[in-house]
Amino acid sequence: VFGGLNRIFAPSTQLMLQRLTFPSGTVNYYFQATIGQLWEYYDRKNVVLITDDHLAKLYPNVFEGHKTLIVPAGEASKDMDTIGMLCGQLLEMEATRQTTLIGIGGGVVTDIAGFLAAVYMRGVTFGFVPTSLLAMVDASVGGKNGVNLGLHKNVVGTIRQPEFILYDTGFLNTLPDAEWSNGFAEIIKYACIFDAELFGHLEINDLSFYRHNAPALSELVTRCVAWKNKTVADDEQEKGVRKLLNFGHTAGHAIETLNAVPHGSAVALGMVIACKVSEIEGLLDGGSSSRLRSLLQRYGLPVHVEIDMSKLMDLLKTDKKRKDDTIDYILLRKIGDAIIRPLSFPVIEKALATYESNN
Ligand SMILES: NC(=O)c1ccc[n+]([C@@H]2O[C@H](COP(=O)([O-])OP(=O)(O)OC[C@H]3O[C@@H](n4cnc5c(N)ncnc54)[C@H](O)[C@@H]3O)[C@@H](O)[C@H]2O)c1
Ligand SMILES: [Zn+2]
Repeated sequence: VFGGLNRIFAPSTQLMLQRLTFPSGTVNYYFQATIGQLWEYYDRKNVVLITDDHLAKLYPNVFEGHKTLIVPAGEASKDMDTIGMLCGQLLEMEATRQTTLIGIGGGVVTDIAGFLAAVYMRGVTFGFVPTSLLAMVDASVGGKNGVNLGLHKNVVGTIRQPEFILYDTGFLNTLPDAEWSNGFAEIIKYACIFDAELFGHLEINDLSFYRHNAPALSELVTRCVAWKNKTVADDEQEKGVRKLLNFGHTAGHAIETLNAVPHGSAVALGMVIACKVSEIEGLLDGGSSSRLRSLLQRYGLPVHVEIDMSKLMDLLKTDKKRKDDTIDYILLRKIGDAIIRPLSFPVIEKALATYESNN
């Protein structure tokens, strides 16, 4: 997994640093770090922090004495109006091209920070301190930074790598249960598509184990980051293998829109559907599907909701990944082995009908 990663230890602090180069830039990964260590690398005078009002209240000491931009917590902040407003605030703070923007928060904050850094003064340096499990294993990694236009998610954005990502898992002590489950949906996704051994570990352990076992949690986060990075390094622009990361997300995104469920729940349901489709295509055995359902439930994720199937189909037909009458669907051959397969709408419809009658 770590092939190609240059693993070195920073001499002064024993921080675990991994430097990784992508077509669009080099990222320094500081694992098992604490946020205070940032100031060994960055001069406070040239830094502007961005966070949400929820984290600003929870961690006043982190932000005290720093120029800080604060957005309201929640997805609604991820829009162009907010970006415009933040650009104005940066000007007022006299931020220049030499300023480094540092997003400290969940995926909403890291997406806003990355996008803002791409457009302010035609681009300034930026870094992330992800504080939610989902941002640690997914949103902060890979260089995609986007905001929404109304209900259209992430349709305005850039692909640009942060200068660093610093992991301080201490933040997770305050993360609510539902957000832990959200993060685990993506972790289970990596296990399904790449890593049968990880799937096995997850089956033996549970949420409470990872919550109370810092070394195991760090190892889990590092492993998922390595999987995402390997995929992104091979295909930053998402022309091939990066598409595998969409496992569970095709139907998932539609369910998220239709049922207003959290992203992790929608992805869990999307993965259940993708397994059904894989079974119908003759790729996956029923035993593997039921192992996945048990695992999702073990981590507090749903495996069934009432879905309006005709509306779901309508939404899938407007998916941006649609090509003529097919969608590139991510299917499993077995746990830990995924493929991309163009599927016609009648096949998907049939799988959805089975989903309805079987659950
Ligand atoms: N750019 C990408 O590649 C990518 C990938 C996946 C997801 N995303 C985006 O990420 C976003 C979802 O990320 P998220 O789930 O982190 O959402 P989020 O940023 O909204 O965080 C969820 C909630 O948890 C709170 N929170 C975060 N860290 C906390 C902590 N340590 N203690 C207590 N509360 C904490 C936040 O204040 C918020 O209320 C979505 O907008 C999604 O589109 C982007
Ligand atoms: Zn996701």
